Amino acid sequence: MTLTYWPLAGLCGLLLATQAQAVEGQDIYTQGGAAPAVTACSSCHGADGMGMAAAGFPRLAGLSAEYLTKQIKDFRSGTRANSVMQPIAAALSDDEVTAVTQMLAGMPAPEVERFSRSAEAEGLGAVLALRGAWERNIPACVACHGPSGVGVGSAFPPLAGQPSQYLTAQLNAWRQGTRQNDPNDLMGHIARSMTDAEIDAVSRYFASLSQ
Ligand code: HEC
Ligand code: HEC
Repeated sequence: MTLTYWPLAGLCGLLLATQAQAVEGQDIYTQGGAAPAVTACSSCHGADGMGMAAAGFPRLAGLSAEYLTKQIKDFRSGTRANSVMQPIAAALSDDEVTAVTQMLAGMPAPEVERFSRSAEAEGLGAVLALRGAWERNIPACVACHGPSGVGVGSAFPPLAGQPSQYLTAQLNAWRQGTRQNDPNDLMGHIARSMTDAEIDAVSRYFASLSQ
């Protein structure tokens, strides 16, 4: 008789474990982690995970757990340098990273206006985003980042719904070599080929697609 109850007990245990992890991710996000250096993510990334545009803090809600985990590991290794995030990434345990990134991936992403790649491109930002600048080997951003920059899978993050100031800071970080975590220098090459005016325009364009 007892044998028949075992699978059920196992299943309950599994359900409880999954629930416990969901709660933990939420706790880290809103209250901080076990180490004092891990302060509540929500204080900078917003209660809704949409970031803080005026401060240039990025949106994390709806990004893939794998992409978020990679970024945290890159902050730890220093291939992505940032004085605010590096100490936090170093102090997070691996279990905390798993819990908080899975929780974030499940948070709702912002609504984004969808454009096809053949849509009319008006202005410097839209032209770069939808067409690129092939004479300088700059492919259209949406070729990798998806239609309207909504992101593709776990390798290509969303650009739409990120604060313009944050996007500009990342492109400049690649130009200055403080962010070197992209495969095959894909983004480094693109960022170094862009002018200041282009970086500003394309960042504003993607930020404007969700509101
Ligand atoms: C004091 C403010 C602050 C706190 C607290 C904070 N962050 Fe950040 N976070 C930032 C800033 C600023 C950046 C942008 C860093 C850069 O420019 O490279 C960032 C970037 C990130 C990124 C990269 C996002 C992307 O799109 O590439 C991840 C992932 C991240 N934070 C996770 C977390 C997690 C998880 C927590 C909580 C454990 C947290 N952050 C707490 C300020 C903060
Ligand atoms: C050939 C593919 C490719 C193209 C084209 C491309 N990107 Fe990227 N981009 C990537 C990859 C891959 C990453 C993630 C790098 C990493 O793992 O940290 C990325 C990341 C970024 C990020 C960082 C986002 C974040 O949340 O951390 C920004 C900003 C960005 N790209 C802007 C652009 C812009 C603007 C264009 C067009 C001018 C563009 N990209 C075109 C592949 C591409």
